[in-house]
Amino acid sequence: MTEQAAHIHDDEWVRRPAAAAEGTNCTPEQYEAMYRRSIDDADAFWLEQAARLEWTRKPTTAGDWSFDPVDVRWFADGQLNVCHNAVDRHVAAGNGERLALIFEPDDPQGPVRRITYAELQAEVIRMANTLKKMGVAKGDRVTIYMPMVPAGAFAMLACARIGAVHSVIFGGFSPEAIAGRIEDCASTFVICADEGWRGGKTIPLKRNVDAALEKVGVKAVLVIRHTGGDVAMNAGRDHWYHELSDGVAADCPCEPMAAEDPLFILYTSGSTGKPKGVLHTVGGYAVWTETTFRYVFDYRPGEVFWCTADIGWVTGHSYVVYGPLQNGATALMFEGVPNWPDHDRFWATVAKHKVAIFYTAPTAIRALMREGTAPVERHDLSSLRLLGTVGEPINPEAWRWYSDTVGKGRLPVVDTWWQTETGGVMITTLPGAHDMKPGSAGKPFFGVCPQLVDGDGNVLDGATEGNLCIARSWPGQARTVYGDHDRFVQTYFSTYKGKYFTGDGCRRDADGYYWITGRVDDVINVSGHRMGTAEVESALVLHDKVAEAAVVGFPHDIKGQGIYCYVTLMEGEEPSDDLAAALRQQVRKEIGPIASPDHLHFTPALPKTRSGKIMRRILRKIAENETSSLGDTSTLADPSVVDTLIEGRLNR
Ligand code: WTA
Repeated sequence: MTEQAAHIHDDEWVRRPAAAAEGTNCTPEQYEAMYRRSIDDADAFWLEQAARLEWTRKPTTAGDWSFDPVDVRWFADGQLNVCHNAVDRHVAAGNGERLALIFEPDDPQGPVRRITYAELQAEVIRMANTLKKMGVAKGDRVTIYMPMVPAGAFAMLACARIGAVHSVIFGGFSPEAIAGRIEDCASTFVICADEGWRGGKTIPLKRNVDAALEKVGVKAVLVIRHTGGDVAMNAGRDHWYHELSDGVAADCPCEPMAAEDPLFILYTSGSTGKPKGVLHTVGGYAVWTETTFRYVFDYRPGEVFWCTADIGWVTGHSYVVYGPLQNGATALMFEGVPNWPDHDRFWATVAKHKVAIFYTAPTAIRALMREGTAPVERHDLSSLRLLGTVGEPINPEAWRWYSDTVGKGRLPVVDTWWQTETGGVMITTLPGAHDMKPGSAGKPFFGVCPQLVDGDGNVLDGATEGNLCIARSWPGQARTVYGDHDRFVQTYFSTYKGKYFTGDGCRRDADGYYWITGRVDDVINVSGHRMGTAEVESALVLHDKVAEAAVVGFPHDIKGQGIYCYVTLMEGEEPSDDLAAALRQQVRKEIGPIASPDHLHFTPALPKTRSGKIMRRILRKIAENETSSLGDTSTLADPSVVDTLIEGRLNR
């Protein structure tokens, strides 16, 4: 059990089904009945949910799947276009004047943009026709490297409209990371902005793309002017959007897509190797994001929904773009950061745009909690009706601060557990249906069948702790790893045959509530961002003075986990501050600033078994300052290594 789970109390209930009084879409009885039906009569249940969308050919079957061998299909004979469902359908229904997106720029004095569904339709059509003019065709992979601005959403929707497969790369990733992702999925087009803004500083997006394209070629780059900063344009390859889009037609039909056609690829870190291109398909993802958004956030027409995630992460895909827009909601897009120009930026923005539903990450809550209650109290937060969190376990202390200080003790808080691979929320309380327990994600969403298993694969019943698996398919699940189905099967379905293994540890209490305890593999979660320790290690050993590196996570007050790197140097090399700085730089260059090591611990040797395997358990304990409980060290080839490591432990 993690340290965090140790001081959580199962019996602390927070009863706040406040939404019920206002007519929530799910009462406790409805949840029970719907959940049961979603498992016992899954086909009928999911065809009913799917019927809220407009299909060019209605599906007659829902799930058609097997986890052994792995083959997953949903709504397989159906045909639809997600862009039509997120945009055109609302205009056709007479809701063209409803707000689709509100853009709050990095600079609080900067111009806000309010985009109606009718305007969104026109923007997406313009982008879609420009992509076609550039040569993009159905099935092509299009890399999107954008700041958090509406054009990022236009780009995603334009791809969906014409059947191109988008691969969005978070703006904090380095040129090396961009090149690797472009190469992996043989992407032939890039859409980027000149630069982005973040906390008053610019991010050189186009320059990073240029550097990436020195390593890998594409047919064309579409550049959107945002900051107006100077960028180099490569004649013949690069096109300004405002020039190329000039004169394109004002209509562009939505490409009818088979439900199992690909919608997007999103790269995510695992415990081994390079990041994986997780592939989601059109029909199941559309139904999953529409349904989860509807029930988890209990959205009411006219409300402003704000998910603070970047579109470069799955949370931005599902709950900035596809979930809200398919529901005809108004989504806020925020380009800035929580602590600039001041620590009240989130709360000022909630008040300014009368946000009703606010969805953010525990790391942001912990950082803002440190600033005390004054920045929150400076603003009128009475528009808020629901709060949510995602990305990592939330410690009860942060949960209570969020609930009491931001929610004034009156709002439901949904702690939503899910993953890039799951497409949308999997475990959560539903407002109106469930009471909450601070620190617990809650109950399975409709159709989700969680199982806790021990190391040998035995399914554990009742109140227990184990490895979290999902026993049945759900519409939103990823279908494959792009170009490497074996890796998909190996990573998710081979540890426990016939089950999807999440990589997370989890506890279930006597009330059937799930408590995620964190990753049980070599993935760490830094500020809600997944990072493979192997990726950081590969970046470090690229330096010619480094012999070996081992990277582990350690508990960090704000980030959840920090990055602790053990490094051994080549014979004759000496540690120095300059070398430490060079290694940090090396990691930033290979992966990006988000992977910057918190601690570099130079050591003459790493603890290894006689067969040469690094004993990470010991490295984790030392990084956590838990040196009194190192466990069995007798299998080490050289037990004295441990004393050296403890002596050299960084004072924290
Ligand atoms: C962790 C983000 C506890 C978990 C949507 C998971 C969480 C990984 C929660 C996926 C939560 C996400 N409580 N842990 N509410 N939400 N996680 O792919 O370890 O970026 O496996 O998806 O984040 O991260 P990813």
